[in-house]
Amino acid sequence: MDSMLIQGGRRLQGRINISGAKNASLPILACSLLTEDNLILSNVPSVTDITTMRHLLENHGVTWQEDVAGVSLNAGHINNFTAPYDIVRKMRASFWVLAPLLARFGEAKVSLPGGCALGARQVDLHVAGLAAMGADIAIEDGYVIAKTMGRLKGVHFNFDKISVGATISLIMAACLADGETQLMNAAAEPEIVDMCHCLVKMGAEIEWIGTHHLKIIGKKKLHGAKHHVISDRIEAGTYMIGAVITKGDLELYGIDYNIVENLGLKLLDAGAHIEHSAGRVRISMNQELRSVNIDTRVYPGYSTDLQAQFMALMTLGNGTSVITENIFENRFMHVPELCRMGADISINGHTATVRGVRELKGAEVMASDLRASVSLVLAAMAATGETKIRRIYHLDRGYSHIEEKLGNCGAIIERISGDGV
Ligand code: UD1
Repeated sequence: MDSMLIQGGRRLQGRINISGAKNASLPILACSLLTEDNLILSNVPSVTDITTMRHLLENHGVTWQEDVAGVSLNAGHINNFTAPYDIVRKMRASFWVLAPLLARFGEAKVSLPGGCALGARQVDLHVAGLAAMGADIAIEDGYVIAKTMGRLKGVHFNFDKISVGATISLIMAACLADGETQLMNAAAEPEIVDMCHCLVKMGAEIEWIGTHHLKIIGKKKLHGAKHHVISDRIEAGTYMIGAVITKGDLELYGIDYNIVENLGLKLLDAGAHIEHSAGRVRISMNQELRSVNIDTRVYPGYSTDLQAQFMALMTLGNGTSVITENIFENRFMHVPELCRMGADISINGHTATVRGVRELKGAEVMASDLRASVSLVLAAMAATGETKIRRIYHLDRGYSHIEEKLGNCGAIIERISGDGV
């Protein structure tokens, strides 16, 4: 497995182009299963989660053609309705093939998912919603087996809890269902909005997009479309924190401030300076870092996917920061690793108390999940001395060309291939 070596103490300065959003691309790629026509996508990032989705879709019979302009997918000849454990265990988003296969072909067998170990991460809401639409669902030997005679039926469904994944599954299913669906207490993340816009281009009828209550009129068929995926707000947010933690000055291109403003407001409280115009955010830091509290929430609240990075920043704050994780029950795996670098953090249930220290020191640390990994990269860039981060395959799942992007802005960062566990 690869490791990463980082020499700390360098200011980040320069410009970074933000890639397309992984978390919008993944469900949109699954939408290709809803039509026999070509779905042509641009701005899909080159990260390993996308490669995993490609393998999964090809396993079902989807053709994938790629050139510099983007990806063209065709699901005209689907010959396999099983998503095997070997692929699904690598990435929870694989579960999103269940709803479109079921809605278009009336059958699907999908392994229970893997992905980052952030707690139980059930799929009960996906299953309950599809069952309410008339699917016959059994769970056998680690697989969800779903069938329906004829089309799924439109339904009024109120999610017990807001779930990004389950909202995506039910939107896809409802687009080909018979009749009207209303989804209440639905998630409204920008990535879901982007998927809805793509589905509308494919002929779907979706109203109240971007709200927590969606109305979808099912169609017998969807058709092909071209779509440009939105930019990755989590990647952008990570680099915004990178500018602040290294007391640097970064210009990020391809991102609109409004989708990262929930983070921006916290960084302003912490002392950062931010300017923005269409498709551009500039962020710099040249004063003492103030400690700020965060509380993760569904969008537009503070994103759980930027919690670990913000915690890395707060380790160097001038006081105490309280960080509360409300979305996942096991998302503090970066804490012991940050403490190895000299951070002072204690955990009580789903709250972490971060007492700022004068400096972090380079150390050997282990990446444990995607966002935890990048929090260690941020900490390492601000630390004194050298940090070695093991198991960086997690990082490759979601950050495209991270060494080049940071290296071009002054970071000293090097990948070491095949360096033990
Ligand atoms: C997606 C994102 C992930 C992000 C998360 C929350 C992708 C590929 N992943 O994950 O990066 O951190 O949204 O913004 O886009 N839950 C249930 N039952 C279900 C489904 C979810 O109890 O059927 C629970 C989960 O265990 C978790 C919470 O709901 O505690 C939120 O999960 P969800 O919003 O579904 O997140 P994901 O779709 O897994």
